[in-house]
Amino acid sequence: MQKRIFLSPPWTGAAEREAVDAAFRSGYIAPCGPQVEAFDAALGELSGQHAAAVASGTAALDLLMAEFGVGPDTTVISSTLTFLATVGPAVHRGAKVVFVDSDASTGTISIPLLEKALKAVARPHARPLVIAADIYGQCCDYDAVESLCAEYGATLVVDAAESVGATYKGRAAGLAGAAAVYSFNGNKIVTTSGGGAVLSRDAEIVARARWRAQQARESVPWYEHREVGYNYRMSNLLGALGCAQLERLPEIVKRKRRIFDFYQALFCGDKRPGHQVSPYPCGDFTESTRWLSVFLFPSPAERDAVAERLAAADIETRPVWKPMHLQPVFRRCRRFGGNVAEDFFRRGLCLPSGAGMGPAQLRRISSAVRGEA
Ligand SMILES: Cc1ncc(COP(=O)(O)O)c(C=O)c1O
Repeated sequence: MQKRIFLSPPWTGAAEREAVDAAFRSGYIAPCGPQVEAFDAALGELSGQHAAAVASGTAALDLLMAEFGVGPDTTVISSTLTFLATVGPAVHRGAKVVFVDSDASTGTISIPLLEKALKAVARPHARPLVIAADIYGQCCDYDAVESLCAEYGATLVVDAAESVGATYKGRAAGLAGAAAVYSFNGNKIVTTSGGGAVLSRDAEIVARARWRAQQARESVPWYEHREVGYNYRMSNLLGALGCAQLERLPEIVKRKRRIFDFYQALFCGDKRPGHQVSPYPCGDFTESTRWLSVFLFPSPAERDAVAERLAAADIETRPVWKPMHLQPVFRRCRRFGGNVAEDFFRRGLCLPSGAGMGPAQLRRISSAVRGEA
């Protein structure tokens, strides 16, 4: 029987097994140890920022919400086209969330609508917080978001969970604003099974995140606390896995881009008006990793037909994120625009993008798309 083709499975091998085994043999099975510190350093090098590895991207966001004092008096402005975790930690702290549509040509947060939102929420003594989400391996327009945040006195956090390895005008994903997060969840471009990181150009923000992630313990021999912390630090074993995965990142990106080229050749040949399939839009300021290959079909029915043919051949796909402003839990939240993200949700399809896929799996996918499977 043929094996199911998953959307974005991890790609690991002997190097990852050996790294975890070496950490195990060293005795550093306890949460902290040299491998997690080495992972912090490797992430610092990759991102061009200070970095602290933590249990998940969600935990990283939670630590930043604590850092920036997010609470019931805070308005958090977020991209609407993203995963729930972008705003989850802010919502848990009682913040008021406001959603901003995507831009039809860049696929990420709309700059004119972000400005409208910032203008609308401006209050004399309240500093809003903007969480700009990168998406599917590509960055949003950091310079434009950053200058709006500076103009309106907002703190900027970049949710770069999906853009690890991408670049924005040649700089690493997440290098903007006050701080950023990465995710190393099992479906991400590099994985530590579960994991994430807090990143910032400000060493003190990262040092405080690391301190809060380890119960905010003071450096005295007994347990002393001036603040209530969290148990969010990444474990040493997973730090070892992360170091080995980061070594593989350039090869993973190369393979993901080749997979994207394969889909482009498969879907984008028909140039007749009304029949065109197009890649999910991407700004020319960012070089996408193609973490996920995402395409927009001429209509929802055509998108669904392709998804159904692939599902019949045991091949996983997923619609583009359902925008946050359409989520029942956020039905009362304010939003600016929304039609562009809704259109992406209705016509967009995420296709299998595992870096470990070989020619046989790609042939299976093209046969299924053509209805030959
Ligand atoms: C945009 C975005 N933000 C945040 C997260 C949360 O990361 P994690 O799953 O590591 O908690 C994810 C992915 O899961 C994500 O895609």
